[in-house]
Amino acid sequence: MASLCYILLCVAFASPCAVAQSSWPPLSTSGTCDNSISGLLVQMFSSDSAFSTVVMNAISFVNSTFICKTDCEDAAQTATIKVYLFYGPKNTDYQVETLENMNKLFTGGHWNKTRNTTCFFPGWLKTALSANYSLRFVDAYLANDTYNVLVVEWPTQQEYVGLVCQMPYLATRLAKALDNFSLASGGDVSTMIFVGHSLGAHLCGYTARLLAALKITFLAALDPAGPLFSVPWRCQFGVGANDAEVVVSLHTDAGRFGSATDVGIADYYANNGTAIQPGCTAFDTNPAQCANQFLCSHVQALFYWCEAISRPGSVIGRFCPSSSAYTAGMCSDYVTNDITVPPSTVGHLYFTTNAEAPFGKGINGA
Ligand SMILES: *[C@@H]1O[C@H](CO)[C@@H](O)[C@H](O)[C@H]1NC(C)=O
Ligand SMILES: *[C@@H]1O[C@H](CO)[C@@H](O)[C@H](O)[C@H]1NC(C)=O
Ligand SMILES: *[C@@H]1O[C@H](CO)[C@@H](O)[C@H](O)[C@H]1NC(C)=O
Ligand SMILES: *[C@@H]1O[C@H](CO)[C@@H](O)[C@H](O)[C@H]1NC(C)=O
Ligand SMILES: *[C@@H]1O[C@H](CO)[C@@H](O)[C@H](O)[C@H]1NC(C)=O
Ligand SMILES: *[C@@H]1O[C@H](CO)[C@@H](O)[C@H](O)[C@H]1NC(C)=O
Ligand SMILES: *[C@@H]1O[C@H](CO)[C@@H](O)[C@H](O)[C@H]1NC(C)=O
Repeated sequence: MASLCYILLCVAFASPCAVAQSSWPPLSTSGTCDNSISGLLVQMFSSDSAFSTVVMNAISFVNSTFICKTDCEDAAQTATIKVYLFYGPKNTDYQVETLENMNKLFTGGHWNKTRNTTCFFPGWLKTALSANYSLRFVDAYLANDTYNVLVVEWPTQQEYVGLVCQMPYLATRLAKALDNFSLASGGDVSTMIFVGHSLGAHLCGYTARLLAALKITFLAALDPAGPLFSVPWRCQFGVGANDAEVVVSLHTDAGRFGSATDVGIADYYANNGTAIQPGCTAFDTNPAQCANQFLCSHVQALFYWCEAISRPGSVIGRFCPSSSAYTAGMCSDYVTNDITVPPSTVGHLYFTTNAEAPFGKGINGA
């Protein structure tokens, strides 16, 4: 495991990834499976045969469908999952329980029955306490002062492909525990808002799909992870438009760390939805910057969302059929929508941001 993480984190530094953006290989749309992998991973690992071996050990293909081998199930069943309740006023004020004990969050003296509840699913390698990440989410919702804020700590700190394979089993465990939690609340938690970033967006989507007792009224998939969830390898348990009453997605690094596929009833594309987002470092030829410049754009989705929560009306998209039509000003009289509010219709929405906080330009960015 450790050596694998080493590969995933460090290949970018060791391999000749100093390639201009325009020369990145296009994504295959053939839908067939081979030893390549979509998006960023193609670039990072195409010259690394060890990675292909890792991939093929973890997964197999049946009729072009990505199938995880069964040992993923054992790992997922025994993994520790924790749930944090941040009750504020500071983000150091929290109660944490294992998933199986999460009903203790009701009895710890910190649960507020009159509040709505939001639940965040961090992405790959992140934890519930990651600074400038999960805690940014926590701060935004605590400042609003009307939510019980939950964050799921799932075993993100391991090699990506094996983790993806565990996700259906992790989602099953989560759904059972959350249903149990909802029933045990005696009605205080009958609905919830889910927000997931990157791989966490897929986990929260699939978890929501499996729920029986708890209802998810609003699900925000923030730059849902691309690798293994976009063409040509498309996991069937990625977040989808029917996973909650309203599913919206916000794209900031489409085609790299983020998925290039629409996933919600409304898909917001910030600054065209692709890297480089304003404020992130421009593409350069320094291998050390190779991954970072995409990660920055990938994480902007979370920052934009947090701002939308902290400052209602700050992140507003405009419906438009395509990026080029939007850029050409052809949708200037189309409907706009605050990203935190259920959209009036389905489709793509576009907006622009500032390069530094406050990122959202309100209606002027739509
Ligand atoms: C693969 O596809 C073929 C042709 O559609 C079908 O007969 C076969 O049952 C499929 N195999 C599996 C395991 O789904
Ligand atoms: C909880 O959410 C519902 C539905 O969005 C809303 O009507 C209600 O005002 C919210 N309650 C609080 C305390 O914010
Ligand atoms: C809290 O969030 C709700 C719903 O997004 C919003 O209407 C309200 O203005 C926010 N309150 C504060 C204090 O930010
Ligand atoms: C519970 O939440 C409500 C609504 O946000 C708030 O007015 C109240 O002060 C909270 N109660 C406690 C004990 O924090
Ligand atoms: C359901 O809740 C009870 C206690 O409230 C707990 O003992 C049990 O482990 C929970 N089941 C699941 C699947 O989380
Ligand atoms: C805008 O996004 C599309 C795909 O969503 C991409 O093909 C195009 O290159 C992007 N344009 C710019 C200027 O980044
Ligand atoms: C937060 O992270 C972003 C990149 O993800 C970085 O640009 C920014 O400087 C960080 N802010 C702080 C306060 O650490």
